[in-house]
Amino acid sequence: MIGNRFSAAAATYDRHARPQLALAQSVVSMLPEMYPEQILELGCGTGQLTRLLTQTFPEVLIDAVDVAEKMIEHSRAKFARYPHINWIVGDAQTWWGGERYPLIVSSSALHWVADLKATFENIFELLEPGGTFSLGMMLQGTLKELHSLRGEICPEKTPAITLPTYEETKACLQEAGFQLERRKHSEEEIVYEDAKAFLKAIHEQGVTGGKVSTGNAPLNRSELSQLVADYQEAFASDGGVYATYETATFLLTK
Ligand SMILES: C[S@@+](CC[C@H](N)C(=O)[O-])C[C@H]1O[C@@H](n2cnc3c(N)ncnc32)[C@H](O)[C@@H]1O
Repeated sequence: MIGNRFSAAAATYDRHARPQLALAQSVVSMLPEMYPEQILELGCGTGQLTRLLTQTFPEVLIDAVDVAEKMIEHSRAKFARYPHINWIVGDAQTWWGGERYPLIVSSSALHWVADLKATFENIFELLEPGGTFSLGMMLQGTLKELHSLRGEICPEKTPAITLPTYEETKACLQEAGFQLERRKHSEEEIVYEDAKAFLKAIHEQGVTGGKVSTGNAPLNRSELSQLVADYQEAFASDGGVYATYETATFLLTK
């Protein structure tokens, strides 16, 4: 399901991914001085974080894993000039490629997994003893305005489940065995041109249809018009509309 949704968004994702880009930058800037032999990236998508890795660690071998086949195809074609990146279809919760890594990174991806604790346990196994894991996560406050408005307009189509909280994420990481070295937690309001542009942007990020903003059933035309009009009125800011993104970056060791 998630694989299909992100596959559909592969071609448009990059143009609209500002909060994700900021988080990917934070994942890289939190890293200590190091030069690993190999890197594993989980949930690589269209390669926003992968590109930053190639700039920080030129020539280092990167295994880039994503559950969406189309994302992998898209990135493999886009990064054809980088033969040292292996593009691999796999689920972060269970993937095992037969070796351990000195550095594992992931940004804006693992809040989607079905079982966060099992995923962190798998990543712990994938990491070499003494290795580093830098993780950027979208958290529960992300798109909270949209989530609450949807709940008012069409409660039956709004999912009860939400993104993980900061405390849940931190606890799962520690239970999996990681040592927490550094962390950064922030909530930021991003301003979009108007409500329509905002909904279009998050749709193109592959965010709609997920836990955050939609339920199992899509909105019909009149519900969507009401959502646009109400969002415009309720969350106006600086000549546009705002949306909250709650994120955290964790630097962990094994
Ligand atoms: C919002 S994109 C982020 C991509 C990229 N890391 C970035 O920072 O721009 C999220 C990606 O996570 C992938 N994803 C979601 N669940 C996953 C899982 N269980 N295993 C691997 N990738 C997953 C999606 O297919 C999608 O490409």
